[in-house]
Amino acid sequence: VKRGGQDIRRLLALSLSHKRLTDRLLHFVWEEGVARTFAALGRFSPGDAASALERELGYDLRDRVRLRMVRVLTDFLCECGQVEMKDGCYIWTAGECPGCVLSDEEEALAAGEALGGELAFFEGCIAHAGKFLRGAPPLYSFDSGAAHIWEEFLGNAEFNFARQVLAKMMLAGQNGGARVLDLCYGPGFDILHIQQCLGDVRVTALDFKDVFRNRALGRIPNPAGVEWIDSGRWQGFGSPLPFEDGTFDAAFFACADPYVPAELRGFVYRDIFRALKRGGSVNILSHSYPDPEKKDVYDPWVRKGTLCHDFSESVCEGWQGFYDAAESRGLFEAVGFVIGDVMMNASVWRLDKP
Ligand SMILES: C[S@@+](CC[C@H](N)C(=O)[O-])C[C@H]1O[C@@H](n2cnc3c(N)ncnc32)[C@H](O)[C@@H]1O
Repeated sequence: VKRGGQDIRRLLALSLSHKRLTDRLLHFVWEEGVARTFAALGRFSPGDAASALERELGYDLRDRVRLRMVRVLTDFLCECGQVEMKDGCYIWTAGECPGCVLSDEEEALAAGEALGGELAFFEGCIAHAGKFLRGAPPLYSFDSGAAHIWEEFLGNAEFNFARQVLAKMMLAGQNGGARVLDLCYGPGFDILHIQQCLGDVRVTALDFKDVFRNRALGRIPNPAGVEWIDSGRWQGFGSPLPFEDGTFDAAFFACADPYVPAELRGFVYRDIFRALKRGGSVNILSHSYPDPEKKDVYDPWVRKGTLCHDFSESVCEGWQGFYDAAESRGLFEAVGFVIGDVMMNASVWRLDKP
């Protein structure tokens, strides 16, 4: 598959990563004994599901992340038609593991460069999920030991396509000399697409650790166009951004919102708002949690794939989960942003500072 826009669009339309992950997670449910446990319950509340998994499978669900994984898994099973929600209770309806088999051609595409790193990352996460749910430590952190894993995952075709969309809509043609903050720059795919799409913008790169800087430097076309802020000047979400009010024309915030704890989200977005100029925008790439009404996240494969993603990345240190789009909208508006654009199953957002 060539990396041209048309080819990538056609590849993504096949939903291969969502299908493959759905298959993997359904197998996890059967192989772990989750299916057997839910089948024995028949009809159950979220609390019953957690207690039964603790009792039967030895899961330790005392912390928020692990307990939340059970909710995500149950919502995923509802999405796959294995569980029904009736009168506030779940009902197990499945007979056997349905799986989701890819054709030979689809298998070859899934193993290719565009999606292979993403799938390997999630499969590694799912393989660790049982241990994690029994109390084992997180599989990956944002440290130098895992930097190559993050790089292989984050450079996938789906995220790169969304980064291009985000970069193109960010400044609406006003890019000459604009100042852009790349918040949580990671291995540099954000800056790569910002520079490729927008040319001569001045990028300020900030992350809470410096572990990715050399990888990012090796990836971007114009290193001289980037000011790197030492991570010692920012302690991460919950501490103020080290910039004056009204510094930036735009901020780019990709794949990091699900690492912001719920109780800090208001602070984080108020502080981004503060650091933007009037007329500036923050441009966010992050899935939204599939809504029961299917209005925000409407594509059936994206819904399943997003739940697989949420469950899998939960085994990484600091993961908080995807946020509900209605809740995000309320929070962004309360901060003072005007919602400019919400696209692609509420995974790409432009918020304007009036
Ligand atoms: C999944 S990576 C995304 C990186 C990059 N934006 C991209 O899309 O390739 C998540 C980013 O959030 C940052 N991050 C994770 N936890 C954080 C925290 N508590 N405070 C600040 N940044 C954090 C990581 O350093 C990393 O750069």
